[in-house]
Amino acid sequence: MGRLHIAVECMVLFVIYETLSKIYTCGPDNQCECSTDNHGFVMDCDGKIVSRLSDICSAIRNTSIKSTAILKAGRNNFRNVNATELVGCESLYTLELNFNQISEFGKDSFKNFSNLEILDLSRNNIQIFKPEWSAAFLPETLSTLILDGFTVDNSSIPSYPNLSHLRKLQTLKLDGLSDNFDIGKHTNRLKELSLSGLSFYSHCSIPHISNSTFRQLLSIVKLNISSCSLRSISAGAFEQLYHLEVLDLSFNRKLGFRSFENLSYGLQFTNIRSVNISYLHTTFGIGTRLFKQDICYLWNTSVEEIAISGNRIMYFETNTVILLPESLTTIDMSENEITFGPFLLQTSCMTNLRIFLGGLQHLAHHPYRYFADDTEEEPTCNNDRMPSRCPFMHETFLNQLAANKSQCNYLQSAGKKTLRSSDFPKYLQFVDLHEGNFIYNLLIDYDIKPNANFVKVLDLSNNIFNIFIGQFGPFPNIEVFNISRCYIMQLGQNTLNYPSLQILRLDKNYLGDQLADSLRSNVFATLISLKALNLSANGITILHTSTFVSLTNLTHLDLSYNNIGILDIMTSSLISLLKIDLHVNSLHTITSDIRTSLEMNAIRRNSTFGLDLQNNSLDYSCENQDFLNWLNEHKSNMNAFEMYVFRLSDGRIMDVTWFQNDISYLAGNCRSYTLLIVLCCIGISSALVTVVGGVIYRHRWKLRYLLFMSRKRFFGYRRLPDYTLKESYIFDAFISYAEDNFRFILDEVIPKLEAENVSLCVHQRDFQAGKAISENIIEAIQSSRKTIVILSEAYLDSKWCMYEFNMARMENLYSREDQGCLLIVMLEKVPHNKMPLEMLRWIQENSYIEYTNEPEGNTMFWDKMVTAKKFNVFALQD
Ligand SMILES: *[C@@H]1O[C@H](CO)[C@@H](O)[C@H](O)[C@H]1NC(C)=O
Ligand SMILES: *[C@@H]1O[C@H](CO)[C@@H](O)[C@H](O)[C@H]1NC(C)=O
Ligand SMILES: *[C@@H]1O[C@H](CO)[C@@H](O)[C@H](O)[C@H]1NC(C)=O
Ligand SMILES: *[C@@H]1O[C@H](CO)[C@@H](O)[C@H](O)[C@H]1NC(C)=O
Ligand SMILES: *[C@@H]1O[C@H](CO)[C@@H](O)[C@H](O)[C@H]1NC(C)=O
Ligand SMILES: *[C@@H]1O[C@H](CO)[C@@H](O)[C@H](O)[C@H]1NC(C)=O
Ligand SMILES: *[C@@H]1O[C@H](CO)[C@@H](O)[C@H](O)[C@H]1NC(C)=O
Ligand SMILES: *[C@@H]1O[C@H](CO)[C@@H](O)[C@H](O)[C@H]1NC(C)=O
Ligand SMILES: *[C@@H]1O[C@H](CO)[C@@H](O)[C@H](O)[C@H]1NC(C)=O
Ligand SMILES: *[C@@H]1O[C@H](CO)[C@@H](O)[C@H](O)[C@H]1NC(C)=O
Repeated sequence: MGRLHIAVECMVLFVIYETLSKIYTCGPDNQCECSTDNHGFVMDCDGKIVSRLSDICSAIRNTSIKSTAILKAGRNNFRNVNATELVGCESLYTLELNFNQISEFGKDSFKNFSNLEILDLSRNNIQIFKPEWSAAFLPETLSTLILDGFTVDNSSIPSYPNLSHLRKLQTLKLDGLSDNFDIGKHTNRLKELSLSGLSFYSHCSIPHISNSTFRQLLSIVKLNISSCSLRSISAGAFEQLYHLEVLDLSFNRKLGFRSFENLSYGLQFTNIRSVNISYLHTTFGIGTRLFKQDICYLWNTSVEEIAISGNRIMYFETNTVILLPESLTTIDMSENEITFGPFLLQTSCMTNLRIFLGGLQHLAHHPYRYFADDTEEEPTCNNDRMPSRCPFMHETFLNQLAANKSQCNYLQSAGKKTLRSSDFPKYLQFVDLHEGNFIYNLLIDYDIKPNANFVKVLDLSNNIFNIFIGQFGPFPNIEVFNISRCYIMQLGQNTLNYPSLQILRLDKNYLGDQLADSLRSNVFATLISLKALNLSANGITILHTSTFVSLTNLTHLDLSYNNIGILDIMTSSLISLLKIDLHVNSLHTITSDIRTSLEMNAIRRNSTFGLDLQNNSLDYSCENQDFLNWLNEHKSNMNAFEMYVFRLSDGRIMDVTWFQNDISYLAGNCRSYTLLIVLCCIGISSALVTVVGGVIYRHRWKLRYLLFMSRKRFFGYRRLPDYTLKESYIFDAFISYAEDNFRFILDEVIPKLEAENVSLCVHQRDFQAGKAISENIIEAIQSSRKTIVILSEAYLDSKWCMYEFNMARMENLYSREDQGCLLIVMLEKVPHNKMPLEMLRWIQENSYIEYTNEPEGNTMFWDKMVTAKKFNVFALQD
């Protein structure tokens, strides 16, 4: 049943939060953890290496706890324990002293204990199997005693301890070391006995169970003999255990199915409900078979649950299934090697079966599941059964038995029925066939007959159905259908015809292609009740709005791990959708349609919506500011918002901290950009139209400059305090030049000037990647003492160059009180009629340096550049 619960939990996509009771530190030196849960007060000192037990007990005495209390004091290296040390612990209900070094208890240790019911002494050094060992110190109040994991001295024959004075003892856990289990001084009392050797520290070796082994345990209800190296069971073994309900024989890898006839014989006299006969074969060997003989008496028992997994079963003898009792509701056949056979036509003979676990059919030979003590190979012939005297294998009896069950046929030969339609057990609810080793293309319908009205959960995940066009069913009441990781490339239009389905898992398939094709993407049309749809990891790039049009009840859509760039799914019909998981996709934004729909749905459902957008490429830009602001406003609705990243237009990645610092400025930032663009347009068009336009045109650089500056101030950029101080600048000069003159800059300007300790700002090298060019230019001009324009015809042709010149001119005019921070170097003769007016005027009003190639003039030129005091070009402040 545990497996069932895990499977169900895995399928339920909604997270359940567990409320934990408050834990605080306590005990000696606050080494332990205390809490109060619904079992009472718990002090957990497990593995805390507390030096003395008496410290813990006196700490407990100091608390006011008098009611039921639990002390976990395992793994602390306690040695001998006596009454003095336990003073203070007398009110305990549960005491765990497992995994210590205790070898002795004082005789009166527990004398004053009045509540102790559960005592765990497993894995200590007590010699409990020595005949002279006395359990007299144990308090009579005990109902549960855990005494397994003790080392055995093999010099003497082990003898089970005499626990006869523990009159209330009901549950005992012990190592099983001989089949002479004469512990029977507890006759009519012990209800639960575990001799299991399954945990790594316990031992169990009981090769044979005879009719005398448990002779005196007549009231036993639950018997655990797992991993006990069992080899045989005799027919009368359980015959007298009338109250036996649960029997665990698993992991007795030398038992095989040989003794099953005897086992099933004995169970007839018990009250058995649950039998675990899993892992009864060695790791190596060919597939096994189960014969009628093996479970011959089982029809006459009250078994409700059978676990028979991990037995390499390939095949059931035809008509064996008829012998399964009507009481059976759950069967776990996972981890076998079931192959097709006529027995599959008889599954409906399990008339009351509710839960069928048949997954993991490939695991029998998993290399990691090698058990060192099981290497012994099994005999190749596994029909090593003794001749049977069981009267229930005859054809007439089986015929009769089958006739008494509805829809159960005795099969003489298999040829008469077609396998393509199967009789399901009538009441079957839960079918787990994950990793069942099914590798088929399901091209035509596979009919289940009669209608499997009770099937609620069907798990076919981790099989291989490349093409799944046919329908498997019908299952009129199915709620959960799992076909994840089935390599499905093609789904039929009718395949998912399950109007009652609530959870559909289709993750890890290859449905991206089909969903991108609007003619074939209409596969969810009948899923009107669907609540959760998982399409994660399907290679989806495009989704069509029409694909999800019927899913009015869908609340949770998982589209993670796809490659979706544009999400356009929300139609007015997805009125219940609240959660979309989109992590790991390539989305730039979420459309306002989807955003408003999510908000509306949340209001309508009186709930909250949720989105997961981790690992996408969300744009951080003006065009996307609606979405970005919305995101910031709704960050509490985002799953793992702190992991989000944003992409700036220049490719840089913005993290959430940065995002949150910057988002409030985004609107202002974008507004001034817009204004700038608008004003430029006006400037250009006005030149053609009106005189006013002409004026604006005249002052356009000034306008641009002022706009820029005002924006910078708005953003809080610190203006450099004194423009005449050298320390105020990062560079001595910003070189403004046309791309065509780059060689001149590289070969001449940079080497010559930088050799003279003149620091230069050259855009190729010093501009910050990622910033807007215009911003970089302004910053370069402002952080440089001078701007040197290398004037050529190419310079005049370049828009950005003219921008640089004009911005430097404005800087000179408006920020530096016309101090001559702009210097023009005429690289070649530029005809005046080619120059724009501003430049002409500048050259006339100020002066310029002329460059020449002739050697003498050239030297002079560089001298002038470096030292010319007249221009105060680069003179260092002394
Ligand atoms: C318990 O209380 C006594 C006095 O009330 C004190 O001396 C002792 O240290 C306390 N022990 C612990 C473990 O707190
Ligand atoms: C109980 O054990 C402690 C330490 O193990 C020891 O100091 C003390 O003397 C013992 N008391 C009795 C009564 O044996
Ligand atoms: C047990 O309780 C009795 C009576 O309260 C007391 O005299 C005795 O000292 C206690 N024994 C121990 C070991 O604490
Ligand atoms: C018990 O038997 C094992 C081997 O069967 C042996 O190695 C070990 O020494 C024996 N222990 C004692 C205490 O005799
Ligand atoms: C077990 O102990 C009780 C006393 O507690 C005694 O009467 C009985 O004989 C013992 N049984 C065995 C088999 O030693
Ligand atoms: C146990 O089995 C033996 C034969 O295997 C039989 O003689 C004996 O009567 C049986 N004991 C009980 C209590 O059934
Ligand atoms: C039997 O004991 C083993 C080891 O403690 C445990 O894993 C298993 O669940 C037990 N079986 C039952 C039916 O409780
Ligand atoms: C079945 O039980 C009978 C009688 O108790 C015994 O003789 C026989 O060996 C058992 N068979 C197996 C395979 O253990
Ligand atoms: C959708 O869900 C609502 C409420 O959960 C339910 O009443 C309704 O029947 C569902 N619709 C369908 C078609 O299942
Ligand atoms: C909405 O839900 C809240 C708590 O989840 C609840 O207190 C409130 O009453 C609900 N309102 C309506 C109209 O259902």
